[in-house]
Amino acid sequence: MKILFVSPEGLPFSKTGGLADVVEALPRSLVAMGHQIAVLLPRYRGNQASRTVLPSLSIPLGHRMRFPAIAEAGTFEGVRYFFVDDPAYFDREKLYGDQSGDYPDNPQRFAELSRAAIEFAKQVWMPDVMHCHDWQAALVPVCLRTIYAHDAAVNHLPVIFTVHNLGYQGLFPRTALALAGLPEDLFRTDALEYYGKVNLLKGGLVFSDYVTTVSRKYAQEMQTAEFGCGLEGVIRSRGNRVVGILNGVDYAAWSPETDTNIVATYSAKVMDGKRLCKKDLLATFHLPSDNLGRPLIGIVSRFVDQKGFDLIAQVASELMKEDLAIVALGNGDAKYEKLFQELGKKYPARVGVKIAYDNIVAHKIEAGADMFLMPSRYEPCGLNQIYSLRYGTAPVVRATGGLDDTVEPYDARTGKGTGFKFEQYDGAALLGCVRQAMAAYRDLKQWRTIQMNGMAKDFSWKASAGEYVKLYDAARQARVQMAAASSNP
Ligand code: ADP
Ligand code: GLC
Repeated sequence: MKILFVSPEGLPFSKTGGLADVVEALPRSLVAMGHQIAVLLPRYRGNQASRTVLPSLSIPLGHRMRFPAIAEAGTFEGVRYFFVDDPAYFDREKLYGDQSGDYPDNPQRFAELSRAAIEFAKQVWMPDVMHCHDWQAALVPVCLRTIYAHDAAVNHLPVIFTVHNLGYQGLFPRTALALAGLPEDLFRTDALEYYGKVNLLKGGLVFSDYVTTVSRKYAQEMQTAEFGCGLEGVIRSRGNRVVGILNGVDYAAWSPETDTNIVATYSAKVMDGKRLCKKDLLATFHLPSDNLGRPLIGIVSRFVDQKGFDLIAQVASELMKEDLAIVALGNGDAKYEKLFQELGKKYPARVGVKIAYDNIVAHKIEAGADMFLMPSRYEPCGLNQIYSLRYGTAPVVRATGGLDDTVEPYDARTGKGTGFKFEQYDGAALLGCVRQAMAAYRDLKQWRTIQMNGMAKDFSWKASAGEYVKLYDAARQARVQMAAASSNP
């Protein structure tokens, strides 16, 4: 099967979060199963292209035309990469916005990505299925079913739309519709209208053949008022066309046996290297080596409300009464950067903080920490807790979304379980859970069992890629049936 991925970010070219990891690893896995995959991304600053495929596409955006090029980046691990090349839109410092907020022309930028994807399919690489990711690619199904509804070259194309995070919806004033080159009649409650605004994510939910999200639990949660971010009704209305498929991880990049970013490799059989990694991690964060004897909690995250760090703020002084140390890597909202920086200042011998995006340090934390903390308010899937399992670093997580699906609570009586979970979204629950992990850590034998249980888990992409293939087939079938029904009324 030929599958075209359309995404606003993807490794090895661009990344702000887990979406980029998914858009790199899932295509590779599909290629290994014998499928042909092309990935279309915006050409951001620094992205190298190898040739121009189409020098100029004509994309109507409102009263203007734009003329982006399509460039080919190359083939990596069997996956072909193409860019929508429009320097004025994408050759910028960041992907989605800067210090002053989101880029104001985001509706046009990502309308261009989506329209260009359809033209790319028509003119260069016709797929059997389109797989679109997040609100930035949501206009692919919207345009296919409206503007392109009478274009026989593409109107049959099945679309899978994957929601990686309902918290980001592409919500704009009504004027965005014209700016994005969309017809005014899409401003309807059964289309893109959302409480007087234009909601691009909603378009993806309504017009795609299947909606997927990145864990089973989040697929249920997103249909409730608590987690649905106002779109729960729309999602529920899609019935069994909403499917949860757990993300896998790329163990080629995230395994302690082969990781080139850490000072010593190790495996479940020979764990000695992990202690060297801990020593190196403490040095990286300028923490004294007496912390070697204490449980070291690692954090790697975007610093945003979703990730639950306000719970740490609630109980910071209680938490620091425990005999533990913390290393935190992340950046984002100023209030959380400040929270961690202040903790670092107050406890300089036990709390190390780096406000940055740093992939090497992220790997060092996975390997060198004893526990990995993710107290998320909600988490569609979460990748770091899955990486942690492989590195023998016990996850301490809130039982939500993918965190709940991937971490099994440790039970001292049975010796089963891979980490520690709490339900209630409050600081006391987090504290209780950390204390539970600390108690297990003090018992060397128990701790080793938890590490071994986690390291033995397999969250590679193979199984999940197979589930996507089934869905691609189902979407193709559904389109064939619809076409048959419309030609035999
Ligand atoms: P999300 O996509 O919501 O940010 P995930 O857990 O799915 O959460 O994925 C986060 C990805 O981004 C992981 O690969 C993680 O290692 C990486 N990451 C997040 N913050 C940083 C950072 N400050 N430095 C390096 N890598 C980071
Ligand atoms: C989102 C979610 C995260 C998920 C990632 C990849 O950014 O916040 O939970 O793992 O997408 O699907």
